[in-house]
Amino acid sequence: MKYFFVISVAVVLLSFFALTGVSLFTLKTPEISPAVVAGKKVWQKYGCAGCHSLLGMGAYLASDLTYITRKHDHEWIYRFFARRPVMPPSKKKRHPGLSRPETADIFAFFTFVAGLDTQQWPPKPMLSEGERKRLEQSGRIKRPEIMPEIKGGR
Ligand code: HEC
Repeated sequence: MKYFFVISVAVVLLSFFALTGVSLFTLKTPEISPAVVAGKKVWQKYGCAGCHSLLGMGAYLASDLTYITRKHDHEWIYRFFARRPVMPPSKKKRHPGLSRPETADIFAFFTFVAGLDTQQWPPKPMLSEGERKRLEQSGRIKRPEIMPEIKGGR
């Protein structure tokens, strides 16, 4: 009984350091090349996080860009920044633009972020009622069968 405290603290500390070691040594982090670093600087310079988020961190005005490289290739993203489309819901304000080298750097940074082992974090965002209706009307998503068992029941 005298050593109960000492033994339990030792067991807790040992498990803590062992599990920290397991976490650190199994982390799969892609290589941080100079282009990735430059891309991170582009991200900061233009305040992209003022509207977007990465890994769920940032602002929620526009979409989370963690997995943007799975959706669009380098050429698409370059054309997007060259064209600078009008940003919804505004009718006039254009999206910030980037040069070809800046786009190459931000693409390297996006590829790095998408390669982080985050266990699929962040999850797909839940759509607001208004956004869901808008996407349904434009035919981009189908209305899901929500609780079909109560359909017509009320
Ligand atoms: C003033 C707000 C604002 C800022 C600042 C901003 N964006 Fe956007 N961005 C938007 C909006 C709005 C859209 C279109 C809707 C959406 O995808 O959420 C968009 C779309 C995008 C898309 C296409 C997304 C897709 O899924 O097709 C990319 C890529 C993008 N932005 C990257 C960036 C980068 C990189 C920066 C910084 C250089 C940046 N944005 C800065 C508001 C902004």
